Amino acid sequence: MLYNVGYLQNDPEFGNIKKNVDDVYKKLENTKDTLIVLPELFASGYNFNEMSEVRSLSTKTGEGYTFEALSHLSQKNNLHIVFGYPEKDKDKFFNSAALISKGRLIGNYRKIHLFYKEKEFFSSGDLGFKVFDIENSLKIGIMICFDWIFPESARTLMLMGANVICHCANLVLPFCPDAAITRSVENHVYYILANRIGTEARKETHSFIGMSEIISPTGELINRSPKDLEDIFTTKIDTSIADKKDLNPYNNLVADRRKEYYL
Ligand code: ACM
Repeated sequence: MLYNVGYLQNDPEFGNIKKNVDDVYKKLENTKDTLIVLPELFASGYNFNEMSEVRSLSTKTGEGYTFEALSHLSQKNNLHIVFGYPEKDKDKFFNSAALISKGRLIGNYRKIHLFYKEKEFFSSGDLGFKVFDIENSLKIGIMICFDWIFPESARTLMLMGANVICHCANLVLPFCPDAAITRSVENHVYYILANRIGTEARKETHSFIGMSEIISPTGELINRSPKDLEDIFTTKIDTSIADKKDLNPYNNLVADRRKEYYL
């Protein structure tokens, strides 16, 4: 099946959820009938100084300005949107990504592999990896930023049936955009990396590397955005290509696994 898919690469202002969400809303105003992936923590910003900031910027899944605006936009423009946000659940906080489809909340993923000082603010994800089948043949697997360095993340999503990996990121290290090509080939999936740009100079300074991209199941780099410019990109994909795991008449990526030799 053919689907329109894409991403938005933004440069959010730390803590200014309304401005950042309104900005994304405006930029997507003319995008219709598409799966769109947004970066990790795309509206709150990333570089927290204090737990009090995490507390005040987090919401329950499905509540708050970000969810209201994106639900409205996704219904109006017939969109599926995957986006990162700071989640509050009772006394715990998670670095999460939700999927909203045409005005409805479909699912939520909590980042499993926390990076660096995220461990001071967030609990590790406790929901496992999940694949959301939203139009029979669009099977969305979600992961968040540092999850990429563990190849088990993408592999698990593929084995669960994902044909499109949606990767919400705030990358600071330079390796992921190239590594994602390998992840696509070794799992024969489409890969949408939505990263941010800009610098957050707070107690610590982090600069984000952009280079959001879409990769085909055979490792073709369909598009890669610049390191330092906001950007939107959309394209058409055929998910049936990613559903076939035969590499040639002898090799199948799933059937050929030798699980008895893996840890
Ligand atoms: C990261 O996991 N945001 C680097």
